[in-house]
Amino acid sequence: MPQAHLTLDPSFRIAPVNRRLFGSFVEHMGRCVYTGIYEPGHPAADDNGFRTDVLELTREMGVSVVRYPGGNFVSGYRWEDGVGPDRPSRLDLAWRQIETNAFGLNEFMTWTRAAGVEPMMAVNLGTRGIQEACDLLEYANHPSGTQWSDLRVKHGVTNPYGIKLWCLGNEMDGPWQIGHKSAHEYGRLANETAKAMRLVDPDIELVLCGSSNSGMPTFGAWEATVLEHAYDAVDYLSLHNYYEENGDLPGFLCSAVDMDRYISAIVATADHIGAKLRRKKKINLSFDEWNVWYQSRFTGRERSPFQETPELIEDTFTAADAVVVGDFLITLLRHADRVSIACQAQLANIIAPIRTKPGGPAWRQTIFHPFALTARHARGTVLRVEPFGPLLETKRYGEAPALSAVATVDGSQVALFAVNRSPDQDLDLTARLPAAVRPVSASVIAAGDDPHRVEALPQPLTVQADGDRLTARLPAASWTMILAECENLLDHNKL
Ligand code: AHR
Repeated sequence: MPQAHLTLDPSFRIAPVNRRLFGSFVEHMGRCVYTGIYEPGHPAADDNGFRTDVLELTREMGVSVVRYPGGNFVSGYRWEDGVGPDRPSRLDLAWRQIETNAFGLNEFMTWTRAAGVEPMMAVNLGTRGIQEACDLLEYANHPSGTQWSDLRVKHGVTNPYGIKLWCLGNEMDGPWQIGHKSAHEYGRLANETAKAMRLVDPDIELVLCGSSNSGMPTFGAWEATVLEHAYDAVDYLSLHNYYEENGDLPGFLCSAVDMDRYISAIVATADHIGAKLRRKKKINLSFDEWNVWYQSRFTGRERSPFQETPELIEDTFTAADAVVVGDFLITLLRHADRVSIACQAQLANIIAPIRTKPGGPAWRQTIFHPFALTARHARGTVLRVEPFGPLLETKRYGEAPALSAVATVDGSQVALFAVNRSPDQDLDLTARLPAAVRPVSASVIAAGDDPHRVEALPQPLTVQADGDRLTARLPAASWTMILAECENLLDHNKL
């Protein structure tokens, strides 16, 4: 049986667990908003038209931040259409939909409060610019006494929202984006928009668009150029990436290798520009779209008729997808020193952990489970563990470690998250702690026996303790969470 070892030491800390790593994304796309989170007349809808079944699942998932309203949608969006009594129907050119605007900023903000999540807004830098971004911010965050803030008050919202997180556009490097720009054009516009927005509200945090994915022809150069323009004016640089199996299960199970390299490359690029500009300030990352997405099954929308709430990319996820999503969360935690925000895309129906039927039930997909367990149990401080074990040979990524792992400690509570990426071999894991350890519980999602089944409820896993060691057999293609108590762990707060 292949063996893997790791050592958990509280002095090897990466960063505090940032709750913003457990974000999600709600776009006006397909059935994410309409008949996803919002469906007036549904038996489970509350007085606001919010589906309480979806709200409950959102809370159960432990979602912390929700990005809104897009995505590609935002690059043609007029935010004013979605506030007040008059809601014009518009063509949404990004997804060839009819947007009724029944749901807009104020509905979203009421929903975030019901869901207990932090809002993350995106402004339109595709068809619009500095003025509209400032108007929206004034409407949302300025107390009163001006045209836009008084309009909000007139719309029944007396107190400003104080929205902190703002994205400066979406995927502006992509030729598919409405108002797509070169890196110089976008860098300049983003910088000027950021400066003006900070004059409206100096307390906001701003996200600059990085590449749409690591395969973009401008990848790397785009980040360097936009940062040269906007380094001083922004807080974060965004990354997006989606992964799919494409008939290569062994490679797919190692997708997090690519996520890891992608993050490291962007950190290096950001720090290079920081060094070039001689800045002490570090730019941290916002991985604000990540997930499994069967993009090869999506034929695009170019020839589709305009429609209200079409069924778009409602991918059904498998056990293997759940394992890969669990590994993405491990990877984000391993980079918690530089990745400050992460949003799984999207929350409901669109490549989502939560699915709904119009007028019918809401349910959890396989990928819901590793997210919910990680969000609930990754607490305190992230510890670096460097597993020692077998390597796998993949077509996509070359050599990849079979074991991926990270740990968190919160007082005496330890949570160890691990993925065995081998599609067909179990792995005997030994984890060594600084003192005697007692396992509390362990859950596993094993995909090796049937990777494409569409159920993946976590099952109990047997973990043995022997003094300062924990041992467990990790099944092939599996995600595992081990919770344990180790009384003599240093209190992470004192580290
Ligand atoms: O999440 C679906 C789409 O993927 C988003 O609209 C876009 O930003 C990305 O390309």
